[in-house]
Amino acid sequence: MLVKKAIFPVAGLGTRFLPATKAQPKEMLPVVDKPLIQYAVEEAYAAGVREMIFVTGRHKRPIEDHFDMTFELEVALEQAGKTGLLEVVRSVKPHDMECIYIRQAQALGLGHAVLCAERLVGNEPFAVLLADDLMVGSPPVLKQMVDQFAEWRTSILAVQEVPADHTRRYGIVAGTSVNDRMVDISCIVEKPAPEDAPSRLGVAGRYILTPGVFHEIATQPRGVGGEIQLTDGIASLLRREKVFAYRYDGRRYDCGSKEGWLQANVELALSHPEVSESFRAYLRGLEL
Ligand code: UTP
Repeated sequence: MLVKKAIFPVAGLGTRFLPATKAQPKEMLPVVDKPLIQYAVEEAYAAGVREMIFVTGRHKRPIEDHFDMTFELEVALEQAGKTGLLEVVRSVKPHDMECIYIRQAQALGLGHAVLCAERLVGNEPFAVLLADDLMVGSPPVLKQMVDQFAEWRTSILAVQEVPADHTRRYGIVAGTSVNDRMVDISCIVEKPAPEDAPSRLGVAGRYILTPGVFHEIATQPRGVGGEIQLTDGIASLLRREKVFAYRYDGRRYDCGSKEGWLQANVELALSHPEVSESFRAYLRGLEL
C-alpha cells in the first residue's frame, strides 16, 4: 500500500453557505443522511487509506465527535434492540481506521492547511480530499487515483472539463496527454479568467501528492486572494517532478455551493435504498 495517509482540510470559513456554516464546518452538512466529511472518509478508506488527518479550524468539535465513539447512543440503541442503527453508528469509524486532528489557527488558505499536516505525514506520498467536493464513482475516485499512482509513482490531480465561464472557480491545468485519461502537466494556474486559462481542465478536490510539495508550499509567497495556495505549491513542484492530471471516471457535486449541494441531495436521494421510491414519487407530483 503506497498511500496510507489522507489530509482532510476542514478549516475553511464556508462563507458561501452562511448561515448554515456559522457554528459548524460546511463539511458537516448532510447529504441525505450522511455528513459530507463521512462520504470523503469512506472514499479514502475504500482506497486503502487508514490514517485520516483532519486539519480543523474553530469548529473542531462536530467533526471530532462524529468520528468518536458515542457511548450513550450505542447503549441506548442496543437496549432498544435497534441493531441496524447500531451498525450504522459503529461503521462510521472502522476499528482499523485512525483519526488525527490538527488545528489551522487561521484560515490562510488551502496550501497552508495542507502544510499544517506536514509533520504528521512525514516523508511519504499522501492524499488530499476536499470533502465539499462530493465524488460519486465506481470504483471510488480516490481508489482510481491510487491505482494510477501505483503505476506512475508521481503526483496526480483529479481533473474534469469545466465550462469556459467557470475557470475562475478552479485551478486550471494544461499539458500533454499520456493516454485518454492522463495528462502530463506543464502548467497550473489558480482561478484564471477565461481568456487567461491555459485549458478547460479544472482541478477537483482530490489529490495524491509526493512529500516534496511541502517545501514548495512553505516557500511560496501569498497567492490569489492573499491566500497560501496549494496550486502555487504544485506549480513550483512541477519544476522538479512530474505531476499528472487524471480525468476521473465519476460525478462531482460542488457541495460548497448551494446549488451543487441541492443537486447532490436530489440525485443521491434518488438512489438511496430507503427513500428513493417515495422521493421519486414526490418529485413526479411536484408541479414545476
Ligand atoms: P474553499 O475555497 O471552498 O473555501 O476551500 P472555504 O472558506 O471553505 O469556503 P467559502 O469559499 O468561503 O464558501 C476549499 C477547501 O479547503 C479548506 C476548506 O475547508 C475546504 O475544504 N480550507 C480552505 C482550509 O482548510 N483552510 C483554509 O485556510 C482554506
